[in-house]
Amino acid sequence: SILIVDFGSQVTQLIARRVREAGVYSEIVPFNRAEEAFQRLQPKGIILSGSPASVVAEGSPRAPESFFQAGIPIFGICYGQQVMCHQLGGKVTANDVDGEFGRAFIDVIAPSPLFENLWKVGEKHQVWMSHADRVEALPEGFKPIAVSDGAPFALIADENRRFYGMQFHPEVVHTPDGGKLIAHFVHDICGLAGDWTMAEFRQTKIAEIRKQVGDGRVICGLSGGVDSSVTAVLVHEAIGDQLTCVFVDHGLMRQGEAEQVVSLFREHYGIKLVHVNAEDRFLAGLKGVTDPETKRKFIGKTFIEIFEEEAKKIGGADFLAQGTLYPDVIESVSFLGGPSVTIKSHHNVGGLPERMNMKLVEPLRELFKDEVRDLGRELGMPDIFVDRHPFPGPGLAIRIPGEVTKERCDILRKADAVYLEEIRNAGLYNAIWQAFAVLLPVRTVGVMGDGRTYDSVCALRAVTSTDGMTAEIYPFQPEFLANVATRIVNEVRGINRVTYDFTSKPPGTIEWE
Ligand code: XMP
Repeated sequence: SILIVDFGSQVTQLIARRVREAGVYSEIVPFNRAEEAFQRLQPKGIILSGSPASVVAEGSPRAPESFFQAGIPIFGICYGQQVMCHQLGGKVTANDVDGEFGRAFIDVIAPSPLFENLWKVGEKHQVWMSHADRVEALPEGFKPIAVSDGAPFALIADENRRFYGMQFHPEVVHTPDGGKLIAHFVHDICGLAGDWTMAEFRQTKIAEIRKQVGDGRVICGLSGGVDSSVTAVLVHEAIGDQLTCVFVDHGLMRQGEAEQVVSLFREHYGIKLVHVNAEDRFLAGLKGVTDPETKRKFIGKTFIEIFEEEAKKIGGADFLAQGTLYPDVIESVSFLGGPSVTIKSHHNVGGLPERMNMKLVEPLRELFKDEVRDLGRELGMPDIFVDRHPFPGPGLAIRIPGEVTKERCDILRKADAVYLEEIRNAGLYNAIWQAFAVLLPVRTVGVMGDGRTYDSVCALRAVTSTDGMTAEIYPFQPEFLANVATRIVNEVRGINRVTYDFTSKPPGTIEWE
């Protein structure tokens, strides 16, 4: 395996993804727990991530010194390169004036087994830079193997110790050969085979779940989304009727979704399922609430309360199964006081109280969304579930800026259903990461028939993405959007104007709240 040491970069999870794409198992651990993870994993290679911190700042994170004596290859990215150089006796300088951000080109100046059969001396390659500080003097044993205008040590190597460092980020798609570079590192430098598959993952996890749970009882919160659905089916395959699923229906689901969840799990899979209709309780608590974080916190907290009540009713359980994914784990590091910045509090991990006194079963903790979909297919789940667009835990509440009411939820559900139906009919559903309607707290004037209307505005959003971390807007044909707008205004009472959201992420987030 590969151990990825996280210094808090926003894109650390992409490193793990690239390693997995190379067919190799890896784990990300925060820098301050890296030593103990090393003992447990006995990795064949180490990757040091980037960071928002500065190596020269007092108290900035370090890699465990023992890693440099372990005799295994190390790959330092950006801050990872700087911290390696700093700890091995090189010199790093702070630079708060300019720095390099965005696309850059490097010149390959020396051959290296790191890119044998990929890059040749004399070639120029596009990379993505994002740094202020940089390495000024190399530690003993290192030499530059590629340079850029802004970074004389864009890529460095100590071939004897098999230590590599780069100022650019190979894990992001803007470094076109970055994935291949990481694959070369794990295969050729670390000697790992690249035979990790989803079928293997399924068997490993089933064995792990059986071992962890024994004859204990497991409870699982089902949301209808891919993550919790795949978790439930996997856990059910492992332990059968020791699993009870609880579907807390907050009434903030899309049209027809709650019914679908109940029938799939009860009828198709024969999984024990408790369906709690808590719409009134959620709407009552959301009354008068307009602040996005207050909505999220209330929904997360209430979810957990209801869940606890149901757990008590069924006589308690020893374990809680959750569909936590890798990006959730990393984002939640910021809740633990780690260096990443919290943009939104995701309710599925942030609010889980220790007082529930249950151990966690989180079989998807290492996976990214599309890998979860592969696992769902591996488990024989229907496409409608496996390919479903992601849906946030707080549901429609965060797609209704301003106050959330039953009436506004119903209006939004109708508009959203029309939009998604048109997307499916056009054969575009699977080309889009996420598409949804947002109901704005703005009324505008319109004219229908001979009458004046004064109704709400609906915004349509559709984005492509590979991981939800960054996103591009989906470029619909204008005719397509015009047709959706006409249908929504004609068929959904309460909406008389439709707009399209052209904002990518960053700077926008995918959801509006
Ligand atoms: P943002 O809006 O942060 O969303 O760009 C990124 C992805 O995460 C989803 N999302 C959530 N998922 N609980 C979830 O399980 C949440 O609280 C939550 N908030 C946003 C969002 O739909 C997108 O796919």
